[in-house]
Amino acid sequence: MLTKSQARAFFVIGTGLFTIIFLGLTVDTLKQIPHLTKQQNMSPEVIKGKHLFDQYNCMGCHTILGEGGYYAPELTKVYDRRGPVFIDMMLQDPEALFPGERRMPKYPFSKEERDNMIAFFEWIGKVDTSGFPKDPPLGKQFIINPTKFQTEQNTTTSTGAATAVKTVAKPAVLDTLCIACHAVGGKGGAIGPALDGISKTRDAKWLREWLLDPAKIKPGTTMPKLPLSENDLNALVEYLSVL
Ligand code: HEC
Ligand code: HEC
Repeated sequence: MLTKSQARAFFVIGTGLFTIIFLGLTVDTLKQIPHLTKQQNMSPEVIKGKHLFDQYNCMGCHTILGEGGYYAPELTKVYDRRGPVFIDMMLQDPEALFPGERRMPKYPFSKEERDNMIAFFEWIGKVDTSGFPKDPPLGKQFIINPTKFQTEQNTTTSTGAATAVKTVAKPAVLDTLCIACHAVGGKGGAIGPALDGISKTRDAKWLREWLLDPAKIKPGTTMPKLPLSENDLNALVEYLSVL
């Protein structure tokens, strides 16, 4: 049995000790924020992008850092997942990117506003969120786990079948845009079919026509007509027709 004074000492010391621990951890957390958020990368563009994000209430439909509406995709890692070109197109005209299935409204953003918002997504994608959101973030249509495909890839190369194949440097646009919807080598989205081995079913002429205007070849297709430069187009056709 504790005496009254022992009980009081127990209460005072216990409360005092845990208050100190609590305050210490609070200060420690606050001290880590600049480091975790990579505060040095918070440029004026990032800040403007964040204000636009708030002003247009994107969180009404989207979550970011887990907060917001559950109607539309989580946006914390959207820069890694989709790349700047895709996001820019989404912010100009979602209907053009998802023909016939638009659910996101079209906004009247200027080029500068879109760039600011992309800067904001790039910054927030690098914030240390202790692994949030988990991979794949929202189901298989967003990211395919590359390791899952490692074994398959290894077996194809070890059969020796791939040795005769001519290799062409991978065009950058593939990683900044096509990867948003297609997987290549096990990495990328699954909105469209994986492009590995596409050369077996499609030749260069077909690929060129397809990329110029998918709907002309297949009316009603959900692959959008993309703003590709002549150089990108040539590089893609050359790369895909030996993939
Ligand atoms: C009315 C709901 C709604 C609002 C408001 C909205 N979005 Fe979306 N957004 C969507 C939906 C739904 C998608 C999924 C693609 C589709 O169906 O159009 C999407 C997709 C996106 C994507 C592509 C994500 C991915 O992983 O493919 C980006 C980027 C995006 N939205 C940014 C924004 C920004 C920035 C704002 C605010 C300016 C915003 N959205 C406001 C509904 C919304
Ligand atoms: C917004 C999503 C999206 C983007 C971005 C996109 N695609 Fe597609 N792609 C699709 C969809 C969906 C299909 C399937 C269309 C269908 O069958 O109607 C498709 C089909 C294709 C096909 C035809 C496959 C076949 O054998 O029928 C090729 C080739 C292709 N895409 C290449 C590309 C390349 C190269 C890029 C980048 C420049 C790209 N796509 C960007 C969604 C996309």
